Amino acid sequence: MSDELKQEELRKFIEVERQKINRELDRLLPPADRYPQTLHRAIRHSVFAGGKRLRPILVLLAAHAFDFKPELAYPAGCAIEMIHTYSLIHDDLPALDNDDLRRGLPTCHKIYGEATAILAGDTLNTLAFGVLASLPYPPGRESVGLQLVKDLSDYAGLNGMAVGQFVDIDSEGKRIEPQTLEYIHNHKTASLIICSLRAGAILGRANAEDLDRMTDLGGLIGLAFQIKDDLLDITSTSDELGKSPGKDAAAGKATYPSVHGIEKAREELESLSTLAKKIALIFDKKSPFLYHIIDYLLLRRT
Ligand code: IPE
Ligand code: IPE
Ligand code: MG
Ligand code: MG
Ligand code: MG
Repeated sequence: MSDELKQEELRKFIEVERQKINRELDRLLPPADRYPQTLHRAIRHSVFAGGKRLRPILVLLAAHAFDFKPELAYPAGCAIEMIHTYSLIHDDLPALDNDDLRRGLPTCHKIYGEATAILAGDTLNTLAFGVLASLPYPPGRESVGLQLVKDLSDYAGLNGMAVGQFVDIDSEGKRIEPQTLEYIHNHKTASLIICSLRAGAILGRANAEDLDRMTDLGGLIGLAFQIKDDLLDITSTSDELGKSPGKDAAAGKATYPSVHGIEKAREELESLSTLAKKIALIFDKKSPFLYHIIDYLLLRRT
């Protein structure tokens, strides 16, 4: 099958899965009419504003690679999507990136105020761990839940997103070394992508070697994903992007193009994707979209 047809097939797969993921998120989140309604409405505003759902989709693709039946992969993916959405709500706050537009809608704090947005993020953050802890793991396999909780704690916090976000904010307006830029991107963004692939692999009882491969694959896709995000901030429009472009340069952000230039950023994207494809090919028989999603992510316009 040609690459173009594969991309078409992948797009359809993603569309179908996105709807299933949205239904699962709806099931896992408190209803909008639960007291205190404003908090639950704020959470739902951000969660259902229309994200790509990349992270849950990666959980599914990794689970497929190990023949894992996806029942538990949906709620596990949704837990990571909750952490991701909380990270976006907080990322947009005036104290961080101060953004008005997210997923094509006004940001959470623009509608509900800063205090509510902070608490909506906090609530999503803790709910995610509760979801992972409460899944119906098969008898004798309950320790999988602990492994997923430990992984998410690492990759969302101390070894991942939150520390990356700190260094990102702390580096604003400074001249930074390329290693610091890599640290930022690997932590603030790649971590949750690594965590997603690992979650699918852990659910599928992958051996240590395959778990390492998924970790490496996530690192490559994750770094490429943030470089692409940096490039889109320069080249895209707010209609396409669903967020306001041009913000990185205005805020003096450490981005791949600001440190290395646009050309070098594009080259790096290519070479990361070549390396990622080499690993994804190992899983090609059982989960071919793991390979094709690499081009999908790099060609994206949003
Ligand atoms: C945006 O993530 C923030 C980054 C880590 C680059 P996504 O581009 O996955 O955002 P949504 O979930 O589709 O809105
Ligand atoms: C986001 O990086 C990383 C997060 C952990 C939320 P950015 O600040 O570049 O993400 P966008 O461009 O606002 O989505
Ligand atoms: Mg940011
Ligand atoms: Mg931002
Ligand atoms: Mg960005």
